[in-house]
Amino acid sequence: MTLRLNSHSQSIQRAATILKDGGLVAFPTETVYGLGADACNDHAVAGIFQVKGRPSFNPLIVHVPSVDMASQIAQMSDAAERLAGAFWPGPLTLVLPVKMDRLSKLVTAGLSTVAVRVPAHPVAQQLLQQFGGPVAAPSANPSGRISPTTADHVLQGLDGQIDAVIDAGPCDVGLESTIIGFDPAPTLLRSGGLPVEVIEQALGQPLLLPGTPQTPNAPGQLSSHYAPNATLRLNATTPEPGELFLGFGKMPADLNLSPAGDLTEAAANLFRHLHDLDARGADRIAVAPIPETGLGRAINDRLRRAAAPR
Ligand code: TXA
Ligand code: MG
Repeated sequence: MTLRLNSHSQSIQRAATILKDGGLVAFPTETVYGLGADACNDHAVAGIFQVKGRPSFNPLIVHVPSVDMASQIAQMSDAAERLAGAFWPGPLTLVLPVKMDRLSKLVTAGLSTVAVRVPAHPVAQQLLQQFGGPVAAPSANPSGRISPTTADHVLQGLDGQIDAVIDAGPCDVGLESTIIGFDPAPTLLRSGGLPVEVIEQALGQPLLLPGTPQTPNAPGQLSSHYAPNATLRLNATTPEPGELFLGFGKMPADLNLSPAGDLTEAAANLFRHLHDLDARGADRIAVAPIPETGLGRAINDRLRRAAAPR
């Protein structure tokens, strides 16, 4: 039985106790719902891999309530300090050398680096403060499926397999965090909820991009990572017979990411609309073109993964 908790402080306290006891709790962040476990408890972390059916070479993001605690877990470089100061708490994850050796080796999948994030969602903040330690959390979906942006999505994939979910309504950002690595120079490992342009502005230098020869491939960049059940056809101007149409901007569509053509609104709606079209039993979903600027980059990255052959 999965307990469905509301976001009152007694419920969050209860969730923190479940985490301390080695349980699994799905909780809201501003990006997507995460599936949390005590990052220092091997058994609990193994539970995450087990219920997600996740390939175990794929390392997890460690969530902490403050920059202070982040610096106990990972070694912060000057560039990392600058980004943390500018964007934490927020939809940004930094991959840094591990410092805390109590962390479960399953969290880092044996790498010498750890992915760290300080989420801004008030419920995530309260949970992390009450728990008082690092919480490992991937997105709260079965591996290979779309990330959840509501508690209902979480339960659709994981009901009965996790101890609790805290329901605090839909996530504001709707896309996972942007991931930046620093080896050897600031590198975009995954585009996400924080646009690349604002990160480059804060750094005062361009980011290296994945796929270029000097960039190591981020584990977890599996091309079919964000797959709905339906197959996707991208950059479609009109649907073909048998397709459901996911629009963007003013156009007739079965669902529209943002009738006003607003990329922030589109990001927040992306996974929910894909879930909804999937739930209508579509074999194929045609998706309107999305501009490749700001959050549009991350949206297109998720769409290309969802459309990848599998
Ligand atoms: O918004 C988010 O980032 C959400 C919320 C819950 O925080 N989490 C999330 O986690 O998207 P997940 O596990 O679905 O994606 C984490 C990504 C994976 O692609 C993983 O391979 C990468 O982070 N990652 C984790 N540790 C890493 C490391 N040490 N080096 C390189 N990539 C790493
Ligand atoms: Mg994920």
